[in-house]
Amino acid sequence: MSRPIISPSGPIVVLTGAGISQESGLDTFRCAGGVWSRVRLEDVATPDGFRRDPALVQEFYNDRRRGLTEAHIQPNPAHHALARLEREWPGGVLLVTQNIDDLHERAGSTHLVHMHGELLKVRCLRCGEIGHWAEDVTTDTPCPHCHRPGGVRPHVVWFGEMPLEMDRIGAALDDCALFVSIGTSGHVYPAAGFVSAVRQRGLAHTVELNLDPSDGASMFNEAQYGPASEIVPIFVDELLGSI
Ligand code: APR
Repeated sequence: MSRPIISPSGPIVVLTGAGISQESGLDTFRCAGGVWSRVRLEDVATPDGFRRDPALVQEFYNDRRRGLTEAHIQPNPAHHALARLEREWPGGVLLVTQNIDDLHERAGSTHLVHMHGELLKVRCLRCGEIGHWAEDVTTDTPCPHCHRPGGVRPHVVWFGEMPLEMDRIGAALDDCALFVSIGTSGHVYPAAGFVSAVRQRGLAHTVELNLDPSDGASMFNEAQYGPASEIVPIFVDELLGSI
């Protein structure tokens, strides 16, 4: 389907998922060999799992944090293209990511919501402070703010918890002229419902860029399939070329 002309003054919302970081060397969740084929999400990504075995949960995130800070894990052309879109699109771009990695920031995106939290942050269950954290965490790690031990948890949103900044995201979805979903399987709500929320308003064009059709593929006005590092830069070039 051909793309309508998107007014350069129209705001854009981009949603990203694990697929955009796959070519940077980070595993997706539901692809073959993905994270949830190796470990039960009930054990490591729920409040109950954390209550049952906090050491197991901390070790799961310690592993992922160590992996993220390895030298070869770098933003790929898809992350860079979205940072360029933010810099050059006159109508403004809000990037909403389900990813807890920091590859969008490293590529230069600043107008960014981490709706599922951030791997390089911890939160204290006692004082509530959130702080940057790049080291391992144990069940005894003292909070860097209140110094009490044993209350530090990953600043990530687990299943059954409320994603972050939903009001800001909802307002941006209400206003956008273009909604683009990249590298997400459409399995997890509320993100999986963003496209239908935008479609109900009927005023925005919706695009899926993914390796293969997501669960919600039929909801989008337009879709392109292939590796994010190839199709996202082309999409961004076309969009900026239309101004
Ligand atoms: N380029 C583009 N898309 C890709 C690529 C790639 N190189 N590799 C994989 N994909 C696509 C897959 O086809 C799949 O549709 O990315 C999607 C990844 O889906 P998931 O693994 O389910 O990841 P995501 O949608 O981000 O998961 C949502 O689930 O467990 C939670 O909290 C976790 O934020 C995560 C949420």
